[in-house]
Amino acid sequence: MVFGIILAGGVGSRMGNVEKPKQYLEIGGKPIIIHTIEKFAVHDAFEKLIVLCPKQWLENTKNLICRYLGETERIVVLEGGSTRNETIMNSIAYIEENYLMDEDTLIVTHDSVRPFLTYRIIEENIRYGMQYGAVDTVIPATDTIVQSEDGQVITSVPERSRMYQGQTPQTFKAKKLKELYYSLTEGEKEILTDASKIFVIKGEAVHLVQGEVFNIKITYPYDLRVAESLIQEKL
Ligand code: CTP
Repeated sequence: MVFGIILAGGVGSRMGNVEKPKQYLEIGGKPIIIHTIEKFAVHDAFEKLIVLCPKQWLENTKNLICRYLGETERIVVLEGGSTRNETIMNSIAYIEENYLMDEDTLIVTHDSVRPFLTYRIIEENIRYGMQYGAVDTVIPATDTIVQSEDGQVITSVPERSRMYQGQTPQTFKAKKLKELYYSLTEGEKEILTDASKIFVIKGEAVHLVQGEVFNIKITYPYDLRVAESLIQEKL
């Protein structure tokens, strides 16, 4: 079984002073989160799409889904967690409670604020996820990455051809992800910026899927303007 997990539990603090979490802001006259859910909804492979959002946005999210996608049994809306990874754990808990989760149960986890992912990216996440058990979507780094331990001077300049920028989806065998996550120390959990790192810390292989330059994450007000232009181009 394959589940689509749309992560919308954040508040979007880096977006600045906006009236709602960034996933509910509109681009092309439609909430960002709806654009993202639509990309998943066209895929038949998913048993269920699990959307996780802040508690106070549960009703609103259900209403938006109903308005834009109609009454659909295939989408469930749940409360997110205190961190992105806790939000993912909430989705796994739901799967465990409602389905027979086995070693091969796959979750395709995706940022609700990356509305430009493609059919091909989802398809490859599912295919390689089934084959390898853990998959991350990346693009080659365009800028040279420099590392600095103290934020003052450069510690190293890694070879650019071996550097990538992480995107989402990230796809995992759910049971394995859960086991690895709960085996981490609190200190290890604190330094996690994404879920792939859970596998990497534990020495487990994560396979790469090629993303797209336009599969941007809307983080800052600038990204919102870029997203609006990309949507207008498509329209
Ligand atoms: N996310 C989540 N649960 C959390 C935190 C984040 O599901 N507890 C989701 C966000 O809603 C977003 C995605 O993870 O779709 C990527 O995270 P990010 O861009 O950092 O979102 P926010 O945490 O909302 O933004 P900020 O860090 O600016 O507050």
